[in-house]
Amino acid sequence: MEYAGAGVGAPTMAGTRQVKLDKECELRVEVGADTPLRLRLVTGTAEIFGTELPPEIWLTFPPRLKFAVFTWYGATIEMDGSTETDYTADETPTVSYVNVHAILEGRRNRAKASSTSDPDSSQGPRVIVVGPTDSGKSTLTRMLLSWAAKQGWKPTFVDLDSGQGSITIPGCVAATPIELPIDPVEGIPLDMPLVYFLGHTIPSANTELYKVLVKELSRTIERHFAGNAEARAAGMVINTMGWIEGVGYELLLHAIDTFNANVVLVLGQEKLYSILKDVLKNKPNVDVVKLQKSGGVVSRNAKVRQKDRNYRIREYFYGLTNDLSPHSNIASFSDLFFYRIGGGPQAPRSALPIGAEPVADPTRLVPVNINRDLLHLVLAVSFAKEPDQIISSNIAGFICITDIDIPRKKITYLAPTVGELPSRFLIVGSLTWLET
Ligand SMILES: Nc1ncnc2c1ncn2[C@@H]1O[C@H](COP(=O)(O)OP(=O)(O)OP(=O)(O)O)[C@@H](O)[C@H]1O
Ligand SMILES: [Mg+2]
Repeated sequence: MEYAGAGVGAPTMAGTRQVKLDKECELRVEVGADTPLRLRLVTGTAEIFGTELPPEIWLTFPPRLKFAVFTWYGATIEMDGSTETDYTADETPTVSYVNVHAILEGRRNRAKASSTSDPDSSQGPRVIVVGPTDSGKSTLTRMLLSWAAKQGWKPTFVDLDSGQGSITIPGCVAATPIELPIDPVEGIPLDMPLVYFLGHTIPSANTELYKVLVKELSRTIERHFAGNAEARAAGMVINTMGWIEGVGYELLLHAIDTFNANVVLVLGQEKLYSILKDVLKNKPNVDVVKLQKSGGVVSRNAKVRQKDRNYRIREYFYGLTNDLSPHSNIASFSDLFFYRIGGGPQAPRSALPIGAEPVADPTRLVPVNINRDLLHLVLAVSFAKEPDQIISSNIAGFICITDIDIPRKKITYLAPTVGELPSRFLIVGSLTWLET
């Protein structure tokens, strides 16, 4: 591999500079921690994770963003500002990724051409991207979606990684149609995502609930596909979390099964590939494909991940560039109903056989008393009309509790918009956010 520009780890000098990229090479950039970076395409053509750069136009990348500018035929890139690191690489797995895209494209075309009365042949690819942490899953998902959108498809993006949240804040499973190549700066538009709230960044906090929500998500998508031949032919790309051992592995199998995935892309781990190939060998319509991890993927430790989650929640309320104005609202205790999902005994001891211990029911709806423990929690506003619909309902949005006044029985919360909440049912989890 050939490196140019600054050495890895050495912050580069501020100022404008140009980088010439040969064909099938990429410029890998980590924007500095405090200042944004401006970048533009001067000559040739180039893309960021599947989305083409407009010629000549300066784009501003926020601090900490890590990305690569890849060119198929050669390009000159200009940067203005300092970076944490930037270097060019001439070895990337992009060709193998685009080959996968070409195969998916063929399947979409076949699905579109087939008679819509046959549910199987009119179904486009259902791709799931799996692999260990920091193997480039989210990035590959993004490339496949953007390349498909560029060809005019509207594939469904399903994000099952409750640890990060590419569609909305962490703590959720979500899906959204991708109608245009994903913006390299703004990410995915938050127009109409379908979101279910787990309330925890790690699914092991309530594995059963995670599975229930994944099922709900798939059911809703299935209904949508049944009535929309275009969405059905475009298919879906599912992003997963990097937890691939033990329960994490079982959740992967559960996701493959629940969404009827027919293409499993395994990134960066031989062992997972061979286990999945073996487990899925009885399903002849499922292809398990091994793909190389990109050398550009940046590893993130637990602290960085925590920080990223905080920024993601901040972005929900304030926007990427502080362009949104969230509102601080005050409600009376009696205006809102708080529920936790999971916990509490499944049945009273008296109803159980002698000697049996009551166990916590992971999907039981438990009303939560209002007290200062709710402070700084991020809560989901349910679309449910009645409490018993809460688990199966999707989410309208989120609020963050910023003050609880017990004597006056008032709650202050931050919401993305002014005015009444779309519902009075709030779901409590363990997700917190402290405005800094
Ligand atoms: N070729 C590349 N050049 C520069 N940065 C890259 C490249 N590929 C990926 N990255 C960056 O590396 C980081 C990790 O990649 P990504 O999020 O795709 O990994 P992941 O497998 O999804 O991780 P996780 O297990 O945490 O979900 C991201 O910030 C991404 O933007
Ligand atoms: Mg990821």
